[in-house]
Amino acid sequence: MHALAAAVVSSTSGVFAGAHFGVAWGLLAGVSAGALVALLPRPRKPEEVVPAAAPDSSFDVLKEFIGMITKAVDERTGYLRGHSERVARYSALIAHELRIDPAEVERIRLSAMLHDIGTLGIDDSVISKSASLTPEEFEIVKAHTVKGAAILRPIDALNDLIPGVELHHESLDGSGYPYGLHRDEIPMMARIIAVADSFDAMTTPRPYQSAMDPDYVLEVLNRLGGIRYDENVVAAMSMLYLNGKVVVEPRRAADARISG
Ligand SMILES: [Fe+2]
Repeated sequence: MHALAAAVVSSTSGVFAGAHFGVAWGLLAGVSAGALVALLPRPRKPEEVVPAAAPDSSFDVLKEFIGMITKAVDERTGYLRGHSERVARYSALIAHELRIDPAEVERIRLSAMLHDIGTLGIDDSVISKSASLTPEEFEIVKAHTVKGAAILRPIDALNDLIPGVELHHESLDGSGYPYGLHRDEIPMMARIIAVADSFDAMTTPRPYQSAMDPDYVLEVLNRLGGIRYDENVVAAMSMLYLNGKVVVEPRRAADARISG
């Protein structure tokens, strides 16, 4: 089942080495030209050009590529800047705290990096809207879960990351989306990303809300433990914050402004 680790980590000439162009173009489908241009380095004079350091392995190339896609996703709206990287950091810390196998911790981190990749398939006018969404628009936004899974599915090396992307809005009581799964039907990868995602969404300023105090956010998450969120995951998140392993940097309200 865990093809990413098996196929990529254990083989320097494995899946990704043979298919990286396919991975690249598959993932780039749907990325707006503007988002990509914003990621390009400024042109260099010939004398400034230095040979690029060769990545250590195909797996490093894959991780660098995921990092680039993550930036493209978050840069579409100013208020999401850094969101996926923070969710990935929190998710990996939670997974480690829960004593999950290190290879799975890494899969959870990479899935969290890509958890909102499906938003690339949603129109700018909806994804960047500052006013409240209409019920129809909310249905469109909810589809980012299945759209994200559809983007990753053709790429064998990324298939193990799909549960976190597709199911991070499921709720233990069955009230989540896209499938209304219950408790044990929701994989741990998705339960962890759900808590990390909600913690970051509430502790950062958004066009529709001010950043909330982390203590208050943890209180809310704990109240919803066993109903919406996995209690053990919420407990791990609370412990990480209390121990100072998760630090929330105060952000200015201006950071929530929508760009473009
Ligand atoms: Fe999401």
